[in-house]
Amino acid sequence: MPLQAIQEAAAYIQAQSQNFRPATGIILGTGLGALAREVDVQYEISYADIPHFPVSTVESHAGRLLLGQLNGQPVAVLQGRFHYYEGYTMAQVVLPVRVLKLLGIGQLFVSNAAGGLNPDFSISDLMLLDDHINLLPTNPLIGPNDNQLGPRFPDMYAAYDAGLLAKARAAAEVLGQGRTTQRGVYAAVPGPMLETPAEYRYLRTIGADAVGMSTVPEVIAARHLGLPVLAVSVITDLCYPGQLKPVVIADILAAAAAAEPRLTALMKAVLAAV
Ligand code: HPA
Repeated sequence: MPLQAIQEAAAYIQAQSQNFRPATGIILGTGLGALAREVDVQYEISYADIPHFPVSTVESHAGRLLLGQLNGQPVAVLQGRFHYYEGYTMAQVVLPVRVLKLLGIGQLFVSNAAGGLNPDFSISDLMLLDDHINLLPTNPLIGPNDNQLGPRFPDMYAAYDAGLLAKARAAAEVLGQGRTTQRGVYAAVPGPMLETPAEYRYLRTIGADAVGMSTVPEVIAARHLGLPVLAVSVITDLCYPGQLKPVVIADILAAAAAAEPRLTALMKAVLAAV
């Protein structure tokens, strides 16, 4: 998607919000919309009204951009994200991240629902991402590079910001969430089907602690833009031998809902620590 489309989307949002300038962008994952209720919302814009924005097709995603204050910090909250499995191009999947960067964000927080591969994890644990493995068939940087967005060969040595990770870890301890806040590697798969038992074993073997169908494209785009990223998975199902059973989407949403208050508290605490 050309830079012009990103600029047009950003210009529309600025016109609707008296040039509101968010400092932090927040992407809310499947079943993880509750943080939005904590935002002192100043402007609410439907994705359907923003030029070039795709409209989310997943029922558990609202499809709204909220601009307002969270814990005294100006935030832009993407309530609903776009997944590769919905049929969007990678450029569409990451458009919101690029638009938020033009609006002025200096950091990106991302949440998602993920299957747990690490046998130490329990349902509804949070996992702070400290690395990822991209198993999606493509990525948002394929194609001609726009140097105004970022470099041709962005470094991924520290995709997840060490300072934000340290703040999140410290916040988890202060909030009494130390035991339920894990840390690990997220593997991104295309979906939309869940994995076979052999695939879960494979993912564990190659070093993943959790698996999901999102996040990595947005993180790649954010790193290309030079944005520090904090990403948190909610472990919604257990995918290691002995624990594996057929996945019921309602159970995933219930596990996400159970973790939401902890996720919200954690993100607010990290914001306040900035
Ligand atoms: N696999 C892939 N994506 C997921 C899973 C899973 O087990 N759980 C939640 N999102």
